Amino acid sequence: MTTTKTGTGTSRTMKMLASSALLAASFASSALAGDIEAGKASAAICSSCHGAAGVSTMDMWPNLAGQKTVYLAKQIKAFRDGVRKDSVMNSVAIGLTDADIDNLAAYYNSLPAGGS
Ligand code: HEC
Repeated sequence: MTTTKTGTGTSRTMKMLASSALLAASFASSALAGDIEAGKASAAICSSCHGAAGVSTMDMWPNLAGQKTVYLAKQIKAFRDGVRKDSVMNSVAIGLTDADIDNLAAYYNSLPAGGS
């Protein structure tokens, strides 16, 4: 009897653990993925240099369209935190939150490289 009760309790605990792990995993992936629409809204200021489609018209300004999400987010955070130095990008990125940056990275990643 005691063994059966313990068994049931354990499997219930296992189920709870499994569902909270799933929940945690889905939160983590949605945080990483970023929100493309929100990113598009905050990219208005960026487009004056990086182009409306993430493809710039000036040699000094890099294309962002189709770039890897993780790389984009890392670079924007580095500009914001002053780790990567560029007077323009440091001042553009200074007010951005991590969520803003993840959204911007998701947005630029979603655009076709080369602007086609
Ligand atoms: C006034 C022009 C200007 C604006 C506005 C601007 N940028 Fe930039 N951005 C630059 C320049 C110039 C560089 C190249 C910096 C360097 O040489 O290190 C750059 C570099 C970058 C890079 C690095 C690309 C790479 O390949 O390493 C990213 C990412 C970036 N900008 C994102 C943004 C985002 C997001 C915004 C809007 C929040 C923005 N930029 C607004 C001029 C601008």
